[in-house]
Amino acid sequence: MRTIVITGGTDGMGAALARHYLAVGDRVVVIGRDRAKFEALRDAAGPPATPAATGPAASDAGPVHAEFVAADLSSIADTRRMVDQLRREHERIDALVLAASYIRQRRHLTAEGYEASWVLFFVSKYLLVTGLAGRLRAATRPIVVNTAVPGARADAIDFDDPGMSRGFSFTRSNAQQRRANELLGILATAEDPNLAYVTWGPSGLVRTSFAGEVGPGMKISAAVFGTVLGKRPDAAVRPLIDLIDDPAPGRAAYRGTRPTPLVAGGHDREDIARLAQMIERDFR
Ligand SMILES: NC(=O)c1ccc[n+]([C@@H]2O[C@H](COP(=O)([O-])OP(=O)(O)OC[C@H]3O[C@@H](n4cnc5c(N)ncnc54)[C@H](OP(=O)(O)O)[C@@H]3O)[C@@H](O)[C@H]2O)c1
Repeated sequence: MRTIVITGGTDGMGAALARHYLAVGDRVVVIGRDRAKFEALRDAAGPPATPAATGPAASDAGPVHAEFVAADLSSIADTRRMVDQLRREHERIDALVLAASYIRQRRHLTAEGYEASWVLFFVSKYLLVTGLAGRLRAATRPIVVNTAVPGARADAIDFDDPGMSRGFSFTRSNAQQRRANELLGILATAEDPNLAYVTWGPSGLVRTSFAGEVGPGMKISAAVFGTVLGKRPDAAVRPLIDLIDDPAPGRAAYRGTRPTPLVAGGHDREDIARLAQMIERDFR
């Protein structure tokens, strides 16, 4: 039985993946904030597995192996606590899917004093990928799927002010975290050449919760293009399931089923090393 860890597994595409992997008998660890959403998902998937029925035959018989870890991934302390908990409770992680999302169109400082989107969409992912590296290494064919749409420009990161204290723009913030997440794959695969690290975005809008605090323009676009015209999450994640089930070591990027070239900058290794240093220094 594989162990699949999914951030944002309570809703949207993360929940669609959780439903799929519970249905095929894997152990799914859902990370999110809303326990009630997790319980609804788990109860719909089938009866829970009892401790005595955790062998391979148990999954064929139908019980689901679902676990919930509550964590606010815009909090550094909570993310570190959750990573420690996962390390204590799981010797091996086969797939780590990073799909938590909370869209903020404006700059927002967390109670810890950090810019919320930078933490949720990059720093927490860095802490998960690096903190769980040993558990991923224990899997035969490990994969990290980072749902940070690939393809941002190589110079998208403001290394002097990633929290954008001198002027926030949603577009720049989004490009910055997408770029940083593509670079994170360099670090992850350098430490474990057997690891597949995929940055993935859907091929179009998907009918998800679009959780966040956004203005009327984005609300209307999400309602029209997402809710009405968007794909169902279960259909949108089909290509992701194929990638997770047959991972190829190394970095790759996709939009839906379509491979897209990784953006190569002139200083990629230096850039991710700089980000790593910054996180270890500033996000204790
Ligand atoms: N939907 C689209 O059309 C689209 C397009 C391009 C890219 N994407 C990307 O696809 C990924 C999944 O997006 P989605 O639209 O499927 O998401 P979604 O339906 O909006 O669900 C967001 C998920 O993130 C969790 N979450 C939000 N804030 C959190 C926090 N502070 N700490 C922990 N968990 C938190 C939520 O959990 P709780 O409810 O439990 O808090 C929920 O499970 C994201 O990376 C997104 O950027 C989506």
